[in-house]
Amino acid sequence: MFDPKAFIDEQVEAIRGAVKGKAILACSGGVDSTTAAVIASRALGDRLLAVYIDTGLMRKGETQDVDVTLKALRVSHRIVDASDEYFEALKGVTDPERKRHIIGNKFIELFEREATTFGAEVLIQGTIAPDWIESGGQLRDRIKSHHNVAGLPAEMKLRLVEPLRDLYKDEVRKVARALGVRVAERQPFPGPAFAVRVLGEVTPERVAVVREACAIVEEELEAAAGKGLMTLPWQYFAVLLPVQSVGVHGDVRVYGHTVGVRAIESVDGMSGTYSKIPHEVLDRISVRITNEIKSVNRVVYDVSNKPPATIEWE
Ligand code: XMP
Repeated sequence: MFDPKAFIDEQVEAIRGAVKGKAILACSGGVDSTTAAVIASRALGDRLLAVYIDTGLMRKGETQDVDVTLKALRVSHRIVDASDEYFEALKGVTDPERKRHIIGNKFIELFEREATTFGAEVLIQGTIAPDWIESGGQLRDRIKSHHNVAGLPAEMKLRLVEPLRDLYKDEVRKVARALGVRVAERQPFPGPAFAVRVLGEVTPERVAVVREACAIVEEELEAAAGKGLMTLPWQYFAVLLPVQSVGVHGDVRVYGHTVGVRAIESVDGMSGTYSKIPHEVLDRISVRITNEIKSVNRVVYDVSNKPPATIEWE
């Protein structure tokens, strides 16, 4: 039987033994990195710095939630607002793989900068067993470079400590509960965030449209699932398409954005079928998006399965 309390005590001791100076940790706000942050903070106090990078590409309220959570858990942390740097680096870039590489490289550059400023000698990561088992095996999806931007490369000149590396997700959740970590169990979200949900160039304005549209899709599907109208899909979100189309507002012709809604059923993200959302729910989503986001005049629903499509549009 897995004993979360004994595990926590054991890891606090192990981290104290392994880290004599300072350590830094990349916190994405997810359950793994937040749990690792709380354990490391118990071991090291102010000798730990948890760093969260706000790329400007995050979901509505996400950065603030992370800040509130880490404060409540008394983890010493720093929120780095790097949105200007990300938008600058992504200027004019439309190719999805280039977007991924730019975002990953920028993350490493910023994190190295923070580590040097803080004087860290150790990097603590929230890696769990499936992360390293999958990366060593043949299971990796080679269709897109799925490097999680919260995962840092071994070439960084920091010694690596991974307190959760033998745990599976259900065990991490038990440890999280024992530590009082309450991270909302949100659906999977890609590391490059909204950069791959804005098709074409990533600008603050276009990200703002998709952020709002995604929040509406989440709210409406979660409300519908709460009322028993449907079960919650594996993933559900909006994308901003790189097309303008003609519409009408009152008597006036407008040339506006098109938003695509994606909802898919899957077990592991490797394959999936599009969700058969009730039309009344789709209707609410469409009306809300076009009413609340004035620059959007058309909403389409994605009825493709994976394969041949992928879950994300980029
Ligand atoms: P696709 O679009 O390949 O997505 O069918 C499968 C799952 O992976 C997520 N995804 C990513 N996750 N970095 C990530 O960390 C990425 O670049 C990335 N691209 C896709 C996607 O949201 C889905 O859960």
